[in-house]
Amino acid sequence: MLVNLKTIIDMAEKGGYCIPAFNVYNMETVMGVFDAAEEAKAPVIMQVYPRLFDEESGYYLAPVILAAAKKASVPVCFHLDHGPSLWEATRAMRWGATGLMLDGSAKPFEENVALTKSIVEMAKAVDVQVEGELGHIGSVNDDAMDEFTNPEQAARFVKETGVTCLAVLIGNAHGHYKKPPKLDIDRVKAIREATGGIPLVLHGGSGIPDDQVKAAIKAGIRKMNIGTDVCCAFADGATASLNDPKRSLAVDLFMKPAIQSVKELALNKIRLVGADGKAQ
Ligand code: 13P
Repeated sequence: MLVNLKTIIDMAEKGGYCIPAFNVYNMETVMGVFDAAEEAKAPVIMQVYPRLFDEESGYYLAPVILAAAKKASVPVCFHLDHGPSLWEATRAMRWGATGLMLDGSAKPFEENVALTKSIVEMAKAVDVQVEGELGHIGSVNDDAMDEFTNPEQAARFVKETGVTCLAVLIGNAHGHYKKPPKLDIDRVKAIREATGGIPLVLHGGSGIPDDQVKAAIKAGIRKMNIGTDVCCAFADGATASLNDPKRSLAVDLFMKPAIQSVKELALNKIRLVGADGKAQ
């Protein structure tokens, strides 16, 4: 069933676990995540980068996500990932998104607050909620990381914007880490304490060592984003098809190993974050 961001984050908060948020790119990645969520009886978020809506892909992808959510026996939230402005947020809701991430993290604090707050207010009208970001989460290819999220600033940000959850910079980055990251777990605890327990979001979930993921969840991470690993799983499955001398060129059959590979990745992540069995 299709649910909004608050419903699914509340489930994680109440249960003390974390919702896996998979970036999806095409029908096959949606199918792989759907199969895993059903098999594991897990609530999941399927999220989309705004660039997919800039192009034709989003036009086809949004109905596929909504079809999966409608068919699902488990809660599925359709979320916009890293929306930069009102334009992208409104457009995502037009396509049916039930959660929005507004990423104003590269802006000065006051501007980030004002922009995020305006999206929270706008989305309220249609019962959609917002994830904010404080402390700019960059790429593993950046020369340096931004300053880690400041707990006192986070408290002000949460109070003034009314976000439902907050993405934080604690040593994480997007992409496959060149060497294993060292997450600042004490900072997660400090941000939770300073904000009165706002559910926190961990971006850059591909390649964080399992023990650190578990420690971060224990400290208050309630949503973890996984994008690069979804792409790698899809590519591995498609490559296996390509290298199989008995492969079928019929595209639907050719894609089956890619769907299976995404499913296996999603199952692993669902279990890692403790979401399995939580939708029963
Ligand atoms: P990865 O691609 O590193 O898994 O990060 C995904 C993400 O955080 C999307 O917002």
